[in-house]
Amino acid sequence: MTDVQQYGPWAVIAGGSEGVGAAFAHQLAADGFHLVLVARKPGPLEATAEAVRARGVEVRTVATDLTDPASLAAITAATDDVEVGLLVFNAGANSYGRAFTDGELDRFQGVIDLNITAMLGLTHHYARLMKDRRRGGILLVGSLAGYVGTSTEGIYGGVKAFGRIFAEGLWAELREYDVDVLELVLGVTRTPAMERAGLNFEVPGMHVSEPADVAREGLAALPRGPVHVVSGNERLVAMRSTEDRARLVAGTEKVMRSLVPGR
Ligand SMILES: NC(=O)c1ccc[n+]([C@@H]2O[C@H](COP(=O)([O-])OP(=O)(O)OC[C@H]3O[C@@H](n4cnc5c(N)ncnc54)[C@H](OP(=O)(O)O)[C@@H]3O)[C@@H](O)[C@H]2O)c1
Repeated sequence: MTDVQQYGPWAVIAGGSEGVGAAFAHQLAADGFHLVLVARKPGPLEATAEAVRARGVEVRTVATDLTDPASLAAITAATDDVEVGLLVFNAGANSYGRAFTDGELDRFQGVIDLNITAMLGLTHHYARLMKDRRRGGILLVGSLAGYVGTSTEGIYGGVKAFGRIFAEGLWAELREYDVDVLELVLGVTRTPAMERAGLNFEVPGMHVSEPADVAREGLAALPRGPVHVVSGNERLVAMRSTEDRARLVAGTEKVMRSLVPGR
């Protein structure tokens, strides 16, 4: 159960329409949080908002692309009159997996705009208010990809590594103000985005998490930052922290080819 006195009464979920984001929304609503849900596609966003409202809480929606610089003002305008005690930054799956020299620079920039620029913009806005109030939580959704570079996921891995290190720094900065910061590190998770991307969930020996379990574990770990690895993925994090980087990167390349067809 997530404490609405510590982290409420309102939560903003950036990427709150489906998958892990929708699971966060349902679980927080069940604990009495009012919500602001953000996503691009209005249809799934409104459908999730409607389902969550049925739990008896207020839900606002902002249909915007977080890579658009105007999205920050649109989201903060939607929360000007309420107290946001929890920010969940969930949006951020890789939208452009290409070899760097084959890809378009502006598409790589989009991955950076979402995972770094938009994340920093929202965190800066809400974390300052939480610091003044001396309570709140920031939960950033990260990835195992942030522990190793691969030929087609180098930018994505880089932004996820950034998120984790940033979360550690912010945790150190805000702990004396009773604002909790957590980087929640996901491994392969059965989300609609990954299903649409054609991810092969059947790779032998691979651990696959379900969105509701990931969200539950993340919310429970929020007071125990700065980093929590979703259970089942601890061994991979340990492996990816080896000093033999050449062996690790070469081995990971092979795994990525079986995981994402065509890459
Ligand atoms: N699924 C996995 O296997 C896996 C593994 C490791 C880490 N993760 C991390 O888990 C998080 C969630 O991933 P996911 O698989 O659910 O995919 P995702 O594409 O990040 O989608 C999650 C939510 O974010 C919204 N969203 C995506 N891009 C957006 C944008 N530019 N502006 C506004 N909203 C946006 C989506 O709705 P719209 O599409 O309508 O905008 C959806 O509600 C990400 O941070 C990802 O890096 C996932």
